[in-house]
Amino acid sequence: MIKFTVTTYKYRYAVLGAGFAGLSVAWHLLERSATDLHVHVDVLDEVGIGGGASGVAGGLLHPYSPKVKPLWMAAKCWEETLRLIRIAETHSGVVDQNSDVFIARRKGILRPVVSLKNMSVMNDNAQNSLASCRIQSINEDAARSLVPNISVPLDLAFFMPGAVNIHPQGYLEALYLACETLAKEMSSVGLGKKEINFHKRSIGNLLELEGEYDAVIVCLGARSTFLPELSGKLPLRTCRGIIAHLRLPDNTREEFLEHSPSILSDAWIAIQNPRSLYLGSTWEWQSCNHSQNVSAEEASKALEELIPKASSVYPNISKWAFDGARAGLRAMPPLTGKGSLPLLGQIDDLIGQTHKSKFWLFSGLGSRGLLYHAWLGKLMAQAVISCNEDVIPFELTSWRPKLIKK
Ligand SMILES: Cc1cc2nc3c(=O)[nH]c(=O)nc-3n(C[C@H](O)[C@H](O)[C@H](O)COP(=O)(O)OP(=O)(O)OC[C@H]3O[C@@H](n4cnc5c(N)ncnc54)[C@H](O)[C@@H]3O)c2cc1C
Ligand SMILES: *[C@@H]1O[C@H](CO)[C@@H](O)[C@H](O)[C@H]1NC(C)=O
Ligand SMILES: *[C@@H]1O[C@H](CO)[C@@H](O)[C@H](O)[C@H]1NC(C)=O
Ligand SMILES: *[C@@H]1O[C@H](CO)[C@@H](O)[C@H](O)[C@H]1NC(C)=O
Ligand SMILES: *[C@@H]1O[C@H](CO)[C@@H](O)[C@H](O)[C@H]1NC(C)=O
Ligand SMILES: *[C@@H]1O[C@H](CO)[C@@H](O)[C@H](O)[C@H]1NC(C)=O
Repeated sequence: MIKFTVTTYKYRYAVLGAGFAGLSVAWHLLERSATDLHVHVDVLDEVGIGGGASGVAGGLLHPYSPKVKPLWMAAKCWEETLRLIRIAETHSGVVDQNSDVFIARRKGILRPVVSLKNMSVMNDNAQNSLASCRIQSINEDAARSLVPNISVPLDLAFFMPGAVNIHPQGYLEALYLACETLAKEMSSVGLGKKEINFHKRSIGNLLELEGEYDAVIVCLGARSTFLPELSGKLPLRTCRGIIAHLRLPDNTREEFLEHSPSILSDAWIAIQNPRSLYLGSTWEWQSCNHSQNVSAEEASKALEELIPKASSVYPNISKWAFDGARAGLRAMPPLTGKGSLPLLGQIDDLIGQTHKSKFWLFSGLGSRGLLYHAWLGKLMAQAVISCNEDVIPFELTSWRPKLIKK
């Protein structure tokens, strides 16, 4: 057998954005690259890991929609996300027991039915639920054994015992650590050196990176649409969402039960621990404000909207005290025959001219970033590595204007 000498060519990839999309792509670029290649991944983010919508997300994760049945490729997406969560957990070391930060809370999600709207879709989901994430139809008594004092107006609730609650910031930081560990491990066993570095850097336009990298993968979430090269060219709508953080006052003795699931209805309640929860979320369409900070005025408006919604299923929300609010900007993709699907693909043609670097886009995760980021991040990485878009299902690339072939 002929053994070729190892080339010293180093593949340089820039991943723009350190949210769910960017860190999933970064992980899979390392994991999927051949062991004998030198691979260098730079993750660039203006704010830091979790600086956008991902860092503030509610963290509720399940593979269903109450409106569409079933979600496109739900089983595959679900399986790959659970895998990436386990990877983050394994590589993260010990999470401080006393801190509020965790990676995944596996207590399920409970959805009390509050109106007859979309009942047929939800029933259908329940009857055809995935083996890996069952849906049980339960009555109010059964729901109250899960969450004491919950109210189930129509005596019907859907319980997903396998659904998960992620702490977005904890998960993202662990996933980045996992990338560093993987790079070290791969470098020590293979012939090729793998590297990953984080750079706090603001990207004003894409062409400023031209030539520095073999490939640039744009994972800037809603802010992808603000880049001069892409502005007006992506079929995305932006939507700001606010999440309130609530705590039980110190003088309240009773707590949320350790085993109680999180709650979904017109508003959702993501349990952080027995004395702390996130309550979300608002939908401010057309907003361009991506700041995670929320003013006192914005917060009180959000609470006025969210508390009554939460209260209709969980009256005890009135006993919880406001403890801050955060916001994020969603990148909402258009509705297609297959549902609202993220936007992936090569974007050299959109940018115009030909370049030394190849440019790729991974955006439009909408309100399902957790469900979509893992598998689609893997497909994106495979496409980048092989320089071949055909590994991405056409449903995800068909958003692009068709070019008239000369
Ligand atoms: C209030 C709210 C609640 C949500 N709850 C859930 C939930 O429970 N479950 C779920 O699955 N999804 C939820 N989502 C949706 C989820 O947050 C998004 O789908 C997901 O975060 C999108 O990830 P992303 O990596 O594409 O974008 P982002 O997380 O926005 O990441 C983009 C990154 O790029 C950086 N960046 C942007 N522009 C620049 C620039 N010019 N230069 C340098 N860096 C830049 C930002 O700092 C940011 O870190 C929620 C969203 C919101 C707003
Ligand atoms: C579910 O309800 C939404 C409104 O919330 C509606 O737009 C949609 O068509 C409904 N879907 C079905 C299948 O009934
Ligand atoms: C609230 O739940 C507790 C524990 O299950 C129960 O003892 C109590 O009666 C409930 N209160 C109301 C008003 O439902
Ligand atoms: C929830 O409300 C019920 C009825 O008001 C009350 O009995 C119970 O103690 C409350 N639980 C908590 C945790 O405040
Ligand atoms: C958000 O608030 C923090 C701390 O209060 C501040 O450092 C930061 O500059 C603010 N960011 C924006 C975008 O306003
Ligand atoms: C975005 O929202 C924050 C918090 O409400 C506010 O301080 C900031 O001025 C807003 N930015 C823009 C551009 O509207």
